[in-house]
Amino acid sequence: MPEPLKLKLRNALTSVINPATGRNIIAEGAVQGLTVTDDGKVRFALELETGEKQQAETLLSAAKTAAKAVDGVTSVSAVATAPTPSSAAPSGGGHTNPLGMQAKPRIEEAAQTLSGVKHVIAIASGKGGVGKSTLTANLAVAMAHQGLKVGLLDADIYGPSVPTLFGLKDKAEVRDGKIIPFEAHGVRTMSIGFIVDPDKALAWRGPMVMGALRQLMGDVLWGELDILLVDTPPGTGDAHLSLIQSKRLTGAVIVSTPQEMALSDMRRGVALFRKTQTPILGVVENMAWLELPGGERQYIFGQGGAEREAKTLEAPFLGAIPLFPELREASDTGIPLATQDHPATDIFAEIARKIMVGVS
Ligand SMILES: Nc1ncnc2c1ncn2[C@@H]1O[C@H](COP(=O)(O)OP(=O)(O)OP(=O)(O)O)[C@@H](O)[C@H]1O
Ligand SMILES: [Mg+2]
Repeated sequence: MPEPLKLKLRNALTSVINPATGRNIIAEGAVQGLTVTDDGKVRFALELETGEKQQAETLLSAAKTAAKAVDGVTSVSAVATAPTPSSAAPSGGGHTNPLGMQAKPRIEEAAQTLSGVKHVIAIASGKGGVGKSTLTANLAVAMAHQGLKVGLLDADIYGPSVPTLFGLKDKAEVRDGKIIPFEAHGVRTMSIGFIVDPDKALAWRGPMVMGALRQLMGDVLWGELDILLVDTPPGTGDAHLSLIQSKRLTGAVIVSTPQEMALSDMRRGVALFRKTQTPILGVVENMAWLELPGGERQYIFGQGGAEREAKTLEAPFLGAIPLFPELREASDTGIPLATQDHPATDIFAEIARKIMVGVS
């Protein structure tokens, strides 16, 4: 009586828990092709999404033991299959994305949509709060003023800054399955903040963050661009690895303040990009000094640390940006300082020119 036996078998197999998912192997759909012959011979395949060989073997052996213990079973023949590395999607497959759309399962595929974009440049730093987002927004504006077609992708899923920096409060429109970027100050921009409320993203786990990033790359109508600047989150985490895996990075620009704590984090950032053959287009020293009313400079975070570090790392030094209270104010009001008549505007323009020289 194979049918009731099959039911008993399925029941027995629910006692086997996959430690990788915390679910039993029946509930997670890992047991495939379960057949029972009239004389009690059982066959099935254990299809596992993730996990190492060792773990798969342990699980397979537990499943066989559970099956053999069922009354009426005379033999069990089972194999474990795991996705091969090349066909396996990176964490967070096509379906686990928070934007209600089907994300491309691999970042490389998502990046193919950027075929109209000549160069993708990541702005990164090891340490948080050193001015990556401020620099990225103002560089984008400076490049647009130089006649380039510029995009700005905010890859900081947990802490998007672009909506504030560009004074954009609306949500993005989706047309024919494509997200329409905003145009502001001559720059095409997209941020997770244009899609969901930032507080929501805080509850997302790694795979969803990666799914969101793939969508910001692959499902946005970026169109033709000379340059796509990518504002990255602090540190060297999943977002950076995803960008590197996209194989679309022309290079990275590293931002640091002159203080030792920021410099050691910067070295880590440089090491990650170098290890993956991503060119370092240069180093920017931010918050380099504060100009006092009398005209002298106060080196709040130490003097010239990032410039020296750039030399040591044999990376081009792109320039120093002093502390400008107006820069902070302009950022908070959503009108980038680079659109205004201010000494900082010339500094951003010069850094933008040097980056473009490095790229070409
Ligand atoms: N040169 C500067 N002069 C004055 N204020 C600055 C300067 N650079 C950045 N700021 C201010 O410092 C704060 C941090 O800057 P920003 O958000 O750009 O850093 P970040 O590196 O992107 O931070 P996070 O790591 O959190 O993403 C902001 O309030 C910004 O306005
Ligand atoms: Mg930032």
